Amino acid sequence: MMAGRLSFRNITALAPMVRVGTLPMRLLALDYGADVVYCEELIDIKMAQCHRVVNEVLETVDFVAPDDRVMFRTCEKEKDRVVFQMGTADPDRALIVARLVENDVAAIDVNMGCPKEYSTKGGMGAALLSDPDKIEAILRKLVTGVSIPVTCKIRILPSLEETIGLVRRIEKTGVTAVAVHGRFKDERPRHPVHCDYIQAVSQAVSIPVYRQVRSLDLVKTNKDIEEFRKATGASSVMLARSAMWNASVFRSRGTLPVEEVMEDYLKYAFRYENHAFNSKYCLCQMLRDKVESPLGKQLQAAQTNAEISEAYGMKEFYQQNQDRLQTKRDSLQSSTQPDRPVMDGDVTTMAVKFERREYPPHITPKMFLLEWSRKEKLEQPQYEVVQRAQDRAFQAIVTLSKKKYRSTLWEKSKKFAEQAAAVVCLRILGIPEGRIGEEDSGLICKRKRDGKTMTNGTTEGEEATIKRRSTENTQETENLESEATVAVAVANGDHHEPDAPPKRP
Ligand SMILES: Cc1cc2nc3c(=O)[nH]c(=O)nc-3n(C[C@H](O)[C@H](O)[C@H](O)COP(=O)(O)O)c2cc1C
Repeated sequence: MMAGRLSFRNITALAPMVRVGTLPMRLLALDYGADVVYCEELIDIKMAQCHRVVNEVLETVDFVAPDDRVMFRTCEKEKDRVVFQMGTADPDRALIVARLVENDVAAIDVNMGCPKEYSTKGGMGAALLSDPDKIEAILRKLVTGVSIPVTCKIRILPSLEETIGLVRRIEKTGVTAVAVHGRFKDERPRHPVHCDYIQAVSQAVSIPVYRQVRSLDLVKTNKDIEEFRKATGASSVMLARSAMWNASVFRSRGTLPVEEVMEDYLKYAFRYENHAFNSKYCLCQMLRDKVESPLGKQLQAAQTNAEISEAYGMKEFYQQNQDRLQTKRDSLQSSTQPDRPVMDGDVTTMAVKFERREYPPHITPKMFLLEWSRKEKLEQPQYEVVQRAQDRAFQAIVTLSKKKYRSTLWEKSKKFAEQAAAVVCLRILGIPEGRIGEEDSGLICKRKRDGKTMTNGTTEGEEATIKRRSTENTQETENLESEATVAVAVANGDHHEPDAPPKRP
């Protein structure tokens, strides 16, 4: 099969790093001048369960696990330069995963160097180094099975002869390049890199051999990278920790203050809705010895991206980005969904968005549906709400006379989702819903429509209802943020307290 564009000659790469090599860090490294960026090691068993989802709102491709967790997020900007690193000990499973991501990445890499238990326990990572037959089987399967370059990252073996022997075997499988971390399996980052091994390996094979630049205090600027390249005769180099501490190390015009780098990082983290805990981890690595500073403490206390944005004085940027994404979400939803009824199993669905401004302040579709069901002597409508994990949006089903109705569009709060379901039900049954400009149906008395407080002739019950509605209308807006944090909500609204505001968590 034809190899893709990446030749791996004369390049500077962001090394694979668990938790660090997620999308924001990769894009940042590319902006600063890295030629190639590796993702964090992703384990084949977990990836094989994922499905590929085009995220039109974020303009990304997401590989989503059955529990809705995004395992790998990538985008067009890095497509030609991102290397997908996997942890595997099984040729067939490796191929399944490689084919899953093949059209979205520039190359596939197999981790054969990680000495950490989470990698070695399944025979993956550095455990593979003692099973060259397995290495060969995995790499051959991948090279013949996908149309993009395949590479691997190894550590050196106890003797030079063994190391050269292994790399020659690896070369014969047809891989495009091999990255050599010049330390033995049981050596740690504080130990020096064995440059003599790397040099001998480079001379013994004709495929590009990457060198792992030793980050520790040796590489702080792009000039240091070039000096390392010259000193070792390496054509391609790979940086891990020095890039993790300050990704602008790739910049040919000089390294930037880490404060600026953190801000650049956060712009990508917010833009791509990176998980707050992952962003926190990366920012803590950048803060290094300042992790106990006031900023560090505020960062550590933050639980959400909004709180991180506050710590960094980027609240306005964060909010503008959130608003932009919401507008996009809304327009995508309404442009892709039909506004005529469609049956989904036993549920009648329609694409309806609840727009608060279309109704008088004290009136909601739920109220109309309730009043109508009372008039018709039916059981009160029952609401059931679910929340999806990927964006924490809500959808509701309303059941009336044993029939179910749902909007196909997702809403930002439980209450809005219930209102949208009520609108679907009302529209399908041809019942007025109380919108501004709609002819007065008489379903809700004029006083309620106008939202007036008690006047002569109003019963206390009516006033109480009006007050309840009024409270709800204010809280609907206020509750948006807090409701959005509910994990999975199943509500059964309107039993005895129609339209009562939800309990705060
Ligand atoms: C936080 C962290 C995570 C790492 N995760 C991976 C990984 O997922 N896959 C891998 O092959 N190596 C991983 N490594 C090893 C690095 O890619 C690199 O080989 C090592 O850190 C030595 O390079 P350095 O001196 O530039 O840090 C990781 C290193 C660090 C510091």
